[in-house]
Amino acid sequence: MSIQRDVIVIGAGAAGLFCAAQAGKRGRKVEVLDHAKKVGRKILMSGGGRCNFTNMYAGPENFLSDNPHFCKSALSQYSQWDFIGLVAEYGIAYHEKTLGQLFCDESAKDIVNLLLSECNNAKVKVTTHCDIISVEKNAQGFTLHTSKGEYQCESLVVATGGLSMPKLGASPFGYQLAEQFGLPVKPTRAGLVPFTLHEQDKDVLAELSGVSVDASASCNNTSFNESMLFTHRGLSGPSVLQISSFWHGGDDVEFDLYPHGDLLEILKSSATKQPDANLSTILSQHYSKRMCSVLLAYFNLPNKPMKQFQGKQLEQVADAFHQWRIKPNGTEGYRTAEVTLGGVDTDYLSSKTMQAKNVDGLFFIGEVVDVTGWLGGFNFQWAWSSAWVAGQHV
Ligand code: FDA
Repeated sequence: MSIQRDVIVIGAGAAGLFCAAQAGKRGRKVEVLDHAKKVGRKILMSGGGRCNFTNMYAGPENFLSDNPHFCKSALSQYSQWDFIGLVAEYGIAYHEKTLGQLFCDESAKDIVNLLLSECNNAKVKVTTHCDIISVEKNAQGFTLHTSKGEYQCESLVVATGGLSMPKLGASPFGYQLAEQFGLPVKPTRAGLVPFTLHEQDKDVLAELSGVSVDASASCNNTSFNESMLFTHRGLSGPSVLQISSFWHGGDDVEFDLYPHGDLLEILKSSATKQPDANLSTILSQHYSKRMCSVLLAYFNLPNKPMKQFQGKQLEQVADAFHQWRIKPNGTEGYRTAEVTLGGVDTDYLSSKTMQAKNVDGLFFIGEVVDVTGWLGGFNFQWAWSSAWVAGQHV
């Protein structure tokens, strides 16, 4: 005897739980199945434990996809303001950290509790430790063979997320299921991920491990002006994570390490006002001493009195800091990536409902779809928006 449900959602993460609650509110009999032992594990880890649950300025321009228009419908049907309203309804205190990024004041647990409470109110059953063995389509909908028995449902929602952080339950299951039902999957790669460096760069720059600096990072006609962090493996911090999603193996990345001003003007005026001061003394008014000494050596710049810099030499110093070009060796990969770029081809999904165009009753939502947000709460907003939309139609 199979267990009968109107809707089965595979994946009890942000998108799956939120979608299940919406469908339950419409009176659908819903069960969420997850192979992990706990629900919402990425939510709990997110935003340093405080969950950057949305962004006040979220719009289609903050997402990467082979079809940049695809996300528009879901984002407008259920916007950041709708989710912020829900967070407020639950009395969860939150604050804007920077650039419209909203974080819980207390804990990411508040968001997981919100989702579980919404599911509970809508009589949604959530089952963990459930391995999905196979899925078949039949006249009534779908049959799922699982470690908890056989399920039969009319609508099946795939909310299994991407490949990042396999330790938190990530699996390629959603992509495999898409392919089983004839939906192509756009090539996947790690996004919002630190860069690793070639030995010759790493050997010198690792000395700056733990140092953070304002920097604009540019690659493939895109720039982000936030902070960057030197690590013992390479480069990280918001500017780097953001640009990593636009980077492909072999590309150079250009950093402006003095993004808010004109270093040449500063150096020229210092050469007049403090001619006997060394370059490192002038630069240490803007960077830490350690950073000055490591970067001067790394850029091969002489640390001599300002009056000794001739002709174009000051321009060379300014250019080294304003236009530092480096070729990363690679990224830290899915082990530390916050998201997975690529995923289920949006050409095969309805942007209004998230339903597969070629398979009635099959829906894909959240990160498994080829829609990836920038850093800053956009990925959760995509999870909420795509989930809400599917929740109205399953
Ligand atoms: P999600 O990955 O959340 O959930 C997928 C679920 O499917 C999991 O519970 C998993 O166990 C389950 N599953 C997978 N395979 C399965 C299978 N074969 N059978 C059954 N179940 C299966 N975003 C943001 O906007 N703000 C932030 O602050 C952060 N911070 C952040 C920190 C870290 C460390 C990471 C790794 C990621 C973030 N993100 C983020 C990204 C964000 O967490 C991510 O985009 C969403 O969680 C995606 O939601 P989904 O529900 O699509 O997948």
